[in-house]
Amino acid sequence: MKLFLFLICTLFSLVRSQGNTLVLLDNQVIRETHSIFFKSLQERGYNLSFKIADDSSLVLSKYGEYLYENLIIFAPAVEEFGGTLNVDTITQFVDDGGNVLVAGNSGTGDVLRELASECGFEVDEEGAFVIDHLNYDVNDEGQHTKLVITPDNLIDAPVIVGSRKDVKPLLYQGTGILADPENPLVLPLLSAESTAYSYIPEQAIKEYPHAVGRDTVLIAGLQARNNARVVFSGSLSFFSDEFFTAPVEKAQGGVKSDVSGNRDVAFAISQWVFKEHGQLRVRSVKHSRVGEEKPPSAYTIMEDVIYKIEIDIFEDGEWKPFSADDIQLEFVRIDPFVRTNLQKKGKQYEARFKIPDVYGVYQFKVDYDRVGYTRIYNTTQVSVRPLQHTQYERFINCAYPYYAGAFSMMGGLFLFSFVFLHLKEDEVKKSKGD
Ligand SMILES: *[C@@H]1O[C@H](CO)[C@@H](O)[C@H](O)[C@H]1NC(C)=O
Ligand SMILES: *[C@@H]1O[C@H](CO)[C@@H](O)[C@H](O)[C@H]1NC(C)=O
Repeated sequence: MKLFLFLICTLFSLVRSQGNTLVLLDNQVIRETHSIFFKSLQERGYNLSFKIADDSSLVLSKYGEYLYENLIIFAPAVEEFGGTLNVDTITQFVDDGGNVLVAGNSGTGDVLRELASECGFEVDEEGAFVIDHLNYDVNDEGQHTKLVITPDNLIDAPVIVGSRKDVKPLLYQGTGILADPENPLVLPLLSAESTAYSYIPEQAIKEYPHAVGRDTVLIAGLQARNNARVVFSGSLSFFSDEFFTAPVEKAQGGVKSDVSGNRDVAFAISQWVFKEHGQLRVRSVKHSRVGEEKPPSAYTIMEDVIYKIEIDIFEDGEWKPFSADDIQLEFVRIDPFVRTNLQKKGKQYEARFKIPDVYGVYQFKVDYDRVGYTRIYNTTQVSVRPLQHTQYERFINCAYPYYAGAFSMMGGLFLFSFVFLHLKEDEVKKSKGD
């Protein structure tokens, strides 16, 4: 019995708990057709609760507390969510820091379109597929919608999609997404080849397609300002067992692989969207005069200061020191007066500099924003005062004319009085002699 309990305990400690995840499906079949993806999540410690998307008992939160940390919506056809779930509650969930992974297809319903536009993406109209007459798979059914995408079309961010060099060609079948290129929070994780466009395959093209060439985003990501992450894929099949295990061969030749790269990329994307990768935090911030330990109540102009910051990254279930060589510190009073690179010293980063000769209220500011990583924005306010009257130098170079003036005046007065006194005596002597 004891051995049994011990075994159970070790089993539970081996599987890290990654948080509760609600999985919404169109039907239970998707659970089977996408079993490799779900199994990999469960193996990584996610507690998945599978529900049908219009189940009337759906709830995200109870008594103001969220029951789930992550939400997966693999229900392209859903027209309306069941229970208390709707676009507003899901947007609120993202605003409160929840992560969402959504996969649509050419039949994406209105509710998912609305959710996508809340996140800054636009899904092409119903029935539209991404079509590419030059880059389709040999197993395509004639409409050239089963696309072969080379890994060069992945975003250049290993933290999100893994290293592009190691990824095999990808298979994609689904609709196109438009992402606002002006929106700095939206990332095109995977885009189409330059010869692709998004349109309804059976229809003759009468108007300019919504998405053409590389502007056609296939998988889009969003890291919100609160660091919540959302991924929207235009293809549900991208995550399917069929595409994970299928061989890839471009009909035109050139690209061929025994198995697609979908599995690697889908796993990497799921690790990013559920914050297993690229999560940073500031552990501690310290600043002081050089040679001192504690921060002073106020700095004085022209002092040498030292600023230290510890930044951690979440890796393999624990917080570890983060290494990078491009973190900068700014010393800001409205405008930055000092901008310098932080040097890694042991576990922490530090910078030394001289406070400028201008007093006022300043901030030490670290603003680190890199694709795929949590944005770090940490400011510490300090005041810098002018010199006290006792701290000025006794004699300063530029005042030498004044010193010379004062002393020459004194010397002159002394000489004058000397001459004046002696002259008088001579005159007295002279008048006596007369
Ligand atoms: C998994 O999630 C369900 C539903 O939220 C919950 O009832 C259950 O206790 C969770 N299991 C674990 C092991 O956390
Ligand atoms: C900066 O980081 C420190 C240490 O984690 C934290 O105490 C402080 O609140 C942060 N400041 C801001 C403005 O986030």
